[in-house]
Order: sequence, then structure tokens, then C-alpha cells
Amino acid sequence: MDSLINKFFNIFIYLLFLTFFLQFPTVSPDSILTWNGISISKTKGFDEEIGELNILVSKDGTGHSLTVQGAIDLVPNSNSKRVKIFISPGFYREKILVPNNKPYISLIGQKNFVPTVLSWNDRASTRKKSSDNPMGTYNSASVIVESDYFHASYITFENTSPEAPVGVEGLQAVALRVSGNNTVFVDCWILGWQDTLFDHIGNHLFYRCYIRGSIDFIFGSAKSLYEECIMESSARTFGAIAAHQRDDPYEDSGFTFSNCNISGTGKVYLGRAWGNFSRIIYAFCHMDDIIVPKGWSNWDDRERQPYIFFAEYNCTGFGADQSRRVPWIKNLTYNQVKPFLGKSSQIDDQNKNTTHKSKDTKKDIPKGTSNILVNKLRSIIYIWTAVFYIFFIF
Ligand SMILES: *[C@@H]1O[C@H](CO)[C@@H](O)[C@H](O)[C@H]1NC(C)=O
Ligand SMILES: *[C@@H]1O[C@H](CO)[C@@H](O)[C@H](O)[C@H]1NC(C)=O
Ligand SMILES: *[C@@H]1O[C@H](CO)[C@@H](O)[C@H](O)[C@H]1NC(C)=O
Ligand SMILES: *[C@@H]1O[C@H](CO)[C@@H](O)[C@H](O)[C@H]1NC(C)=O
Ligand SMILES: *[C@@H]1O[C@H](CO)[C@@H](O)[C@H](O)[C@H]1NC(C)=O
Ligand SMILES: *[C@@H]1O[C@H](CO)[C@@H](O)[C@H](O)[C@H]1NC(C)=O
Repeated sequence: MDSLINKFFNIFIYLLFLTFFLQFPTVSPDSILTWNGISISKTKGFDEEIGELNILVSKDGTGHSLTVQGAIDLVPNSNSKRVKIFISPGFYREKILVPNNKPYISLIGQKNFVPTVLSWNDRASTRKKSSDNPMGTYNSASVIVESDYFHASYITFENTSPEAPVGVEGLQAVALRVSGNNTVFVDCWILGWQDTLFDHIGNHLFYRCYIRGSIDFIFGSAKSLYEECIMESSARTFGAIAAHQRDDPYEDSGFTFSNCNISGTGKVYLGRAWGNFSRIIYAFCHMDDIIVPKGWSNWDDRERQPYIFFAEYNCTGFGADQSRRVPWIKNLTYNQVKPFLGKSSQIDDQNKNTTHKSKDTKKDIPKGTSNILVNKLRSIIYIWTAVFYIFFIF
């Protein structure tokens, strides 16, 4: 009798360990976004990349899906491994949602080839399908990313809704909304007019992207680093590049534009203060002669001037002339700007070394290496405990 109870007790302990083991699945290194992970497509060919975890989208039926949304739908819910969705060059007229229960998705086009364009044309005043109400700016995006650890390379995001004349309501038309956390966009094009890129919430990195629009064409409450991007204004008269929303001094958000190029048409503000504590920094950027001499807008609210955090650091070009700027911008030293440039304040998880003039030192430090180790150790302990129990008890 005693030995039977003992046996049951031991089985119980064993099962307990087993459940523990199952509760802590090891994190696949594939699911961790690193510069290495992104650069795979830079060093290897397109076809070599297609493996089990990859999905191919092709309009000619030779892939796994004809549409991009179809490919995203193939990714299991609560996905925990990076899934690379390769999209053959072409024009995909779809409205696309990457839902928040499908993290670790990559959308990858082809480098140096015909572009892969994801295109739709909703605007804020477009009626919702379900009701007669307008969908609003938030829902007008052609591509909506709500999942974490999303990544895109060599993709064009566009909203083809026509130009919004200054002051006309309801014509805001978002090409891309990013509401997921820890997302990375490399070598992407984001095209629209008013409200092109809704950089909504989360930590985001935009590296070597081309972003075009007229009014507030980069806007939202995210904490984002724009590194080596080109911002092209298509404003006919007046416009604005960035509108950052921040209402709370403790909110960890802001836009940094570092080593960027600003060109195009019109006269545009560098930024507008959407909220009392709006935060935008331009550092080491080249600015063509398209910047409003005052540079920045307080959104018609003088009260917020002392709290707004707008700064320009070591920018060049005609547009960077500071002599007629509004007096309430910050004049920062390098040490004050530095935290906004690299990993400490922006994309901490991506470990991107953005020290000035260190463009080729973007080393690949896998995020959460220690996590992998801990998980590995944990698995080893669980497995050996299980083996031990099986061996000594049965
Ligand atoms: C994004 O993730 C980081 C950790 O990777 C976290 O500190 C931060 O609070 C997250 N932001 C949001 C908006 O969830
Ligand atoms: C930015 O503009 C400057 C001056 O027009 C030009 O020399 C430089 O090549 C541009 N950089 C990029 C990345 O387009
Ligand atoms: C912004 O600041 C003004 C003046 O200090 C204040 O009246 C207003 O409530 C603030 N707005 C928000 C959203 O905190
Ligand atoms: C910024 O520009 C000033 C001159 O305008 C120069 O002395 C300084 O070295 C520059 N700082 C950096 C970090 O490039
Ligand atoms: C910013 O501060 C530096 C030194 O602290 C000064 O030389 C420079 O004129 C200031 N620039 C502006 C626009 O106030
Ligand atoms: C970033 O790069 C600079 C220059 O190569 C180097 O001195 C610095 O240690 C690097 N920082 C990190 C965090 O890797």
C-alpha cells in the first residue's frame, strides 16, 4: 500500500515537473529580431530563403498564397517563431491587417527589383462597411500592424487616395499604421499625402526608409528612431513633416530623426506640437530649402511652449538655418542629444549602435541572449529531472 502511494506521489511530482516544462517553452532564436535576422535577406538570395517557416506570396499561383492577407492568415495565432512572408514583386491591391495575436511576422519584398507595393485608398471620410459612419483616420490605413516584433523590408506601403488640399476635412489617408511594439522597417517606402505614416504606439525603428507626404505625414505617440531615412515633402504650399502626440511628461515617447535627408516641395514645419509635451529631435540631418524659417509650430497654443521638447542638432543644408527659428526650441549639447540617438532611449531591444559616424558598426547583438540561455538551462534541468524520476522510480 505504502509503495503504491509512493508511486502515485512520484508520478504526481513527475507530472508537476512536466507541466512546468511545458509552461516554459524555449524561445526560438528565430523569433528574436536582430540586425542579423534582418540582414539575412541582404546576403542570401531570394529563393534560398524559402524554407518551412517561410510563406511565399505570388500572384501567379506558384506560392502559398495569392494575397498578402492570405499569407498572414496562414500564420498560427500566438505564433512564437519568426515567419518570413516573401512577397513577389507586384502591385497588391488589398487592405491588410496584421493582428496583434500574430507576432514575429516579416514581410519581405525583393531587393533591387521591381517593387512590391501594398496599396489601398481609404480615407478618414470613407464609410465603414458595417455602418454609415466615417471610418476615421485611424482605420483608413492601407496596412495596419498591430502585432509586436513585426518587420518589413523592401516593401512599399501606399494610400492612393487623392491629395488633401490644406484645410479640407476628412481627406486624411494613412498608408501605414504601426500599433505593435518593437517593430522594424528597413528599406521600405511609405507613400501618401496627409497623415501618411501613423506611428501610433510602441518602439519602432525605421531604417533607410523613404517617407512621402504633405501634412503631418509622420504622426502619432510612438517612440521611434528614424535612421538614414528620406522624408520627401509633396506639400504645394504649407505642410508639416512630423506631429508627435505626448500629453504626459512621464510618457516614454518621441520621434528622433537621425542622419536623415529632407527634400521635396513647399514650405513645411519640421514638427507640430500635438499635446503639451510633444517631443521631436532632428540630429545630423540634411535639410533642403523647404523648411518654414520658424521651423516649428506650437499648434496655436502658447501655453505649451515651455513643455514642448523640440530640438535640432548639427543639421546641415539651407533648411537647417536656425537664425529665424521660434525662440522656445531646445538648444541641446551632444550629451543631451545622445540618449535619443541610440539604443538607450529608442530601440533598446534592437541593440543598434547609432553612435554618430559609426554607420558600419551596427553589430548584431541578439536580443535577450541571456533569456535564451536561461531557457536552455531551464529545459536541461527539467529534462534531467524528468529522466531522473523515470529512471529511479519505475
Ligand atoms: C515596448 O516594449 C518594451 C520592452 O521591449 C517595453 O519597455 C515598452 O513599455 C513597450 N511599449 C509599449 C507601448 O508597450
Ligand atoms: C542627402 O542630401 C545630400 C545633399 O543633397 C546628398 O548629398 C546626399 O547624398 C543625400 N543622402 C541621401 C541618403 O539621399
Ligand atoms: C495642457 O496644458 C494646459 C496649460 O497648462 C492645460 O490647461 C491643459 O489641460 C493641458 N492639456 C492636457 C491634455 O494635459
Ligand atoms: C556639431 O557641430 C559643431 C559645429 O557646428 C562641431 O563643432 C561638433 O563637433 C559637431 N558635433 C558632432 C558630434 O558632430
Ligand atoms: C546653443 O548653445 C551654444 C553653446 O551653448 C551656442 O553657441 C549657440 O549659439 C546656441 N544656439 C542657439 C540657436 O541658441
Ligand atoms: C558604438 O560604436 C562606437 C564606435 O565604433 C564604439 O566606440 C562604442 O563602444 C559602440 N557602443 C556600443 C554600445 O556598442
